[in-house]
Amino acid sequence: MNKPPPQPIIGPPPKSTKYKGVKHTIMVMSGKGGVGKSTVSVNISVTLAKKFKVGLIDADINGPDDPKMLGVSDAQIEAGDAGIIPVSSKYGVDVISMGFLLPNEDTAVIWRGALRHKAIQQFLEDVAWGERDYIILDMPPGTGDEGLSVAQLVPDADGIIIVVTPQDVALLDARKAMNFATQLKLPVLGIIENMSGFVCPHCGETANIFKTGGGEEAAKKYNVPFLGRIPLVSEVVVSSDNGTPIAVTDNVVAKIFSDITDRIVEIVEKRK
Ligand SMILES: Nc1ncnc2c1ncn2[C@@H]1O[C@H](COP(=O)(O)OP(=O)(O)O)[C@@H](O)[C@H]1O
Ligand SMILES: [Mg+2]
Repeated sequence: MNKPPPQPIIGPPPKSTKYKGVKHTIMVMSGKGGVGKSTVSVNISVTLAKKFKVGLIDADINGPDDPKMLGVSDAQIEAGDAGIIPVSSKYGVDVISMGFLLPNEDTAVIWRGALRHKAIQQFLEDVAWGERDYIILDMPPGTGDEGLSVAQLVPDADGIIIVVTPQDVALLDARKAMNFATQLKLPVLGIIENMSGFVCPHCGETANIFKTGGGEEAAKKYNVPFLGRIPLVSEVVVSSDNGTPIAVTDNVVAKIFSDITDRIVEIVEKRK
């Protein structure tokens, strides 16, 4: 007797069972580099970690910054029975990054898409995340294939947070990221406007170097939540560079990150 023909697989591929203990997966993206994705990812992660079990995946294979921002750039990763053990930081966030696998900070990673996909897959599936409330993915700049990899590997990801700067081009950048989200079939959880107004460290006055309002305007235009505005503050750079996220200090920006994170949690909880 002839065997029946194979049935086509309908719908997205099933989520890997190795990642099944993770409740919420959120990608932090932008239309371009240097707008503060890593800063936002790290600070949201440490803020979430005050209440939840949090993992951070540095999905920027070519430019891994998260270990440094969390003060763990010298750490080595090890493998245990359940898989690769993510590096614990003192802020309650465990992190995995290409940075841990490079001989030194200056090593350039020149990998084609297929290899980067493999790295993202390992970060998601071969790391012993166990039970986690949140996994935050700090994505590389732009609309590259890493986003596609995550959407394929975690088809039920909660969604994407878009980071923009406040200039008029924010609309353009946001549009790119919005279109990408649509293609990935993932919801946009909201837009964050970063580098919104410079707070002078001497006089405390605010100067809107990059203007202000572009992010909020983009959120209105695309009908997605506006999550908040983070000013350009010199302490953010200093704290990132010395491995103490601003969100764990008493800087005003910590309160801003706390409000933004509350909003994200509210949106994510409501959606599920
Ligand atoms: N709100 C802010 N105020 C001051 N500096 C910031 C702010 N956000 C980001 N930066 C700085 O800008 C640079 C780029 O930020 P980063 O988070 O690495 O961007 P991306 O990950 O999008 O490339 C870093 O040096 C970071 O410390
Ligand atoms: Mg980055």
